[in-house]
Amino acid sequence: MERLDKYLTERGAGSRREVQRLIRSGAVSLNGTVCKKPDTKLDPQTGSVTVSGKNIDADKFIYIMMNKPAGVVSATKDNYDKTVIDILPEEFRRRNMFPAGRLDKDTEGLLIITNDGEFAHKMLSPSKKVYKQYEAELDGEVTDDTIYAFKKGIMFADGTKCMPAELNIPDKSRKNRAIVKICEGKFHQVKKMFAVCGLKVVHLKRISIGNLYLGSNLTIGCCKKLTKLDVESIFMGNIH
Ligand code: URA
Repeated sequence: MERLDKYLTERGAGSRREVQRLIRSGAVSLNGTVCKKPDTKLDPQTGSVTVSGKNIDADKFIYIMMNKPAGVVSATKDNYDKTVIDILPEEFRRRNMFPAGRLDKDTEGLLIITNDGEFAHKMLSPSKKVYKQYEAELDGEVTDDTIYAFKKGIMFADGTKCMPAELNIPDKSRKNRAIVKICEGKFHQVKKMFAVCGLKVVHLKRISIGNLYLGSNLTIGCCKKLTKLDVESIFMGNIH
């Protein structure tokens, strides 16, 4: 059982104070009846709550897919740049949301923003083998040697060894475009892996995480709420 004010705060209806004010004003109904006591207990699994007639999503956790634009940073706060949280539409906002993993400021594509720390940990842990695919445009052609080096596991200059990665050229007539598949998230990993092979990444976009794909419908800068099935698909097809 959970307190009504806590339940509403956790689901984005406002701060604890705002929510208590709302409840006392008579704007909140629990199972169809106006409830004016913030400390009323409800079963989060079965209780149905409305604020000013609008249903409150029963799920405590929210998972948002963003097609991250270049120029915003994957952080919750930044003194200089706009963050992915700053550009998150009002309807998707909850308390304590954060990007699950980072994309560089100039990288575009699939980013998940959530308030579920356990989920993020599982998705990002290399041992869980959740593969992330990136579309990379390079300043030169990818050779068989590059593909082989990725497959063997790239070693950075500081001795850090990357896990084996897959590199594919989707269009053999454009060998400066490659799809990279990795299950780690080291700082600037894809750019650094190509740099070891003498190539510079000129454009980078993440296109998938596990079996969840960005697709072509979500335009740059836009967001959508993921369904339970979408979230499950992230972990489908991996080894663990
Ligand atoms: N690898 C990079 O180099 N940059 C990113 O943003 C993501 C992966």
